Amino acid sequence: PTADRPRLVAEAHAAGRGLGAFNVVLLEHAEAIVAGAERAELPVVLQISQNAARYHGSLEPIATACLALAREAAVAVAVHLDHAEEVGLVHEAVALGVRSVMFDGSALPYEENVAATRDVVTHCHARGTFVEAELGEVGGKDGVHAPGARTRPDEAAAFVAATGVDALAVAVGTSHAMTSRVATVDRDLIARLAQAAGVPLVLHGSSGLSDDELAGAVAAGMTKINISTHLNGLFTAAAREVLDADRAVVDPRRYLTPARAAVAAEVERLLRLLAG
Ligand code: G3H
Ligand code: ZN
Repeated sequence: PTADRPRLVAEAHAAGRGLGAFNVVLLEHAEAIVAGAERAELPVVLQISQNAARYHGSLEPIATACLALAREAAVAVAVHLDHAEEVGLVHEAVALGVRSVMFDGSALPYEENVAATRDVVTHCHARGTFVEAELGEVGGKDGVHAPGARTRPDEAAAFVAATGVDALAVAVGTSHAMTSRVATVDRDLIARLAQAAGVPLVLHGSSGLSDDELAGAVAAGMTKINISTHLNGLFTAAAREVLDADRAVVDPRRYLTPARAAVAAEVERLLRLLAG
């Protein structure tokens, strides 16, 4: 058994590997992601977004379940709070034992993002917690796609120096919540950002990327690769197949079992692809 591992991103960065970070909505997602990682024999990040915590009514039940799965896993599993816009939720996550958080101030003006992120870093670093922040908003969170957004390397360097963050989410061509894998990333910009930032880079909205684009993004210098929508598409399609085929189904395990298996298989495949 392994404990929650906040340094997985730093370790992948040092090794030049990509690290899959997959979003947990339901307990079944977390079980599938850990099963896929165990089959691939590779580390993984289980991430819970502020929106997912809101869906459940609070962070604690789903975070506690993820921490328990991480402890019992046969591979290293980090539990991460994703896209927290409320500082109070970051503090709650840290108090629950979550040792990796993303504070998302990307919608704020630059100076406000710096100030708010710096405060989060101070709180988290005093408690052994890894901090990811975002600069240059990756669109799509509100349903509005903005694949044209770009993070400037000079701003990335200044932001990291001013805040002390451990990892930086950057805008390089992806957009959140894409249901087809047709986006492309600016590999030259990734290389320049990796050089300028000096900390691991995080790719959000990675569901919009093909296998080739994912591998290319890692080769160019991306470390943590966030994928959510793509797995939800597979999960829901597998459940729908059962529900469409048999309208008499009552037990949720009948459609959640194949849904969970579909996610586990894809997590195993993606982790191997990203690790190179
Ligand atoms: O923070 C989560 C990711 O950026 C997931 O984005 O749903 O487009 O894969 P996605
Ligand atoms: Zn994201």
